[in-house]
Amino acid sequence: MDSPKASAARKALGFIKDGMVVGLGSGSTAALFIEMLGGKKLDVACVATSHDARAIAVRAGLCLAELDQVKGIDVAVDGADLVDPSRNLIKGMGGALAREKVVDYLAKKFVCVVDESKMKPDFRGIVPVEVIPFAASPVAREIAGEFGAKVSVRCGCGKCGPIVTDNGNWIIDAGFGKVANPGRLESGLQCIPGVVANGIFTRNRPVVVVGGKDRAKVLE
Ligand code: 5RP
Repeated sequence: MDSPKASAARKALGFIKDGMVVGLGSGSTAALFIEMLGGKKLDVACVATSHDARAIAVRAGLCLAELDQVKGIDVAVDGADLVDPSRNLIKGMGGALAREKVVDYLAKKFVCVVDESKMKPDFRGIVPVEVIPFAASPVAREIAGEFGAKVSVRCGCGKCGPIVTDNGNWIIDAGFGKVANPGRLESGLQCIPGVVANGIFTRNRPVVVVGGKDRAKVLE
C-alpha cells in the first residue's frame, strides 16, 4: 500500500509523457516521484531543483539537463509546505526555494504533490526567504519592520551557524499570521534588496495532487 506522499507521487506520473522536459522538485514527496519516474524508463530529460534532487535522479537513472540545454519545462513536479484553498503555496522548508521557483514558474504545467496535512484553510505560517549573506541583517529588519513578521536566520543541524543553500546564500524564516493577499506579499518581499527568492508561490497556479492512503485526488 502506498503512503499518502507515495500515492500523490504515483498519480503525478500520469502527467509525464515520452519526449518531455520534466522539472524535478525537492523534498521527500518529490523524491518519491523522482524514484518512480526512473522506474518508468520514459524518454525524458530532467532539470533538478537542488543538489539533492539531482543525486536522487542520478541514482534513478534519469537523463539530466541544465536550463541552457532545454527550450523550456513541460511539466514540473514539486512538493509544498502549505497549500491554501486558492492553490497558493508556501515552499522552501527544504531550503531549495530559489531553484524551485525558477523551474516551477517556467513549467507549462506545474504539478504540486502533497499529502493532506499540507492543505490549510488559511495562508499563514513560516515563509522562507533566501538572501545573500551580505544583506541578511537589513533584510531581516525590513521583513520584521515593514511586514510585521517574526524573523530568524535558519541554522543548521550538524553544523554551527546558518545553513547555506545550494546557491551559497542564507535563509531567513519569516513567521506571518493570516495573510490576506499572498500575491502582494510575494511581490513585496521580492522587492527588498538582497532577497534572492521567497517561498510564496502564487503565479504559476499548480495542479495539486493530494495523496491519501493508497489514493490521490487532483485539484485544478
Ligand atoms: C523544499 C520544498 C519542499 O517541496 C517542501 O518542503 C515539501 O517537502 P516534503 O515533500 O518533504 O514535505 O519546498 O525546499
